Amino acid sequence: MNSLKGNKVLITAGPTYEPIDPVRFIGNRSSGKMGYAIAEALANAGAEVILVSGPVNVKANHENIKVIPVETAAEMYEACHQHFDSCQIAILAAAVADYTPANPANQKIKKKTEEFSLELVKTKDILKSLGEIKQDEQILVGFALETNNELEHAKGKLEKKNLDFIVLNSLRDKGAGFKHDTNKITIVDRNNKITKFELKEKLLVAEDILAYLLEYLKRK
Ligand code: CTP
Repeated sequence: MNSLKGNKVLITAGPTYEPIDPVRFIGNRSSGKMGYAIAEALANAGAEVILVSGPVNVKANHENIKVIPVETAAEMYEACHQHFDSCQIAILAAAVADYTPANPANQKIKKKTEEFSLELVKTKDILKSLGEIKQDEQILVGFALETNNELEHAKGKLEKKNLDFIVLNSLRDKGAGFKHDTNKITIVDRNNKITKFELKEKLLVAEDILAYLLEYLKRK
């Protein structure tokens, strides 16, 4: 299948690690599997993929996937902005930290006091920042992981971040989210069209996202 031949795609995957000191960080449980599966599905469809990846244990196995490894939200932001202009499609599946330590220590923090608090500052929202500079011909796709009022929250993010469509995971669905090899998604587009999918392997979920994307491109 060469339906995406000639298209360059930016994908983000995995968690970010926000340093507290040289040996500690704030991270999350994202495995990167969903983002890597999407990268593989799109590369199989002929796309040239730039995969900006946080620290993960999965590997990309396709000559059309170029992995750019990053650790922090700030590094992921820089890498995405470096490549977005040259891409026709961007799919941001990474679980980016929303907050990062304000003043990471240069040396290992020693335990001294009974209580210890960290000052955190907001990271830049990569997806929103790309939505602000997106050209008409570019397609921007985001993910939303929700626990309640899922559709309402997903629609809010779609509008706020100027997306073409958003892929929603609900943590209320068994087998969906970070820890599983399976996922259950709902896609919401700009016209409020809601498409629900069954629980399936992440590789097959990636195929569904690819098929949806190809249909969307046809209609655009
Ligand atoms: N995202 C991003 N940069 C960030 C935070 C999130 O690019 N600093 C992207 C994620 O990759 C995902 C989407 O934004 O595609 C949704 O992330 P989420 O954290 O659920 O959304 P928020 O807008 O941060 O909303 P909230 O934390 O209130 O749920």
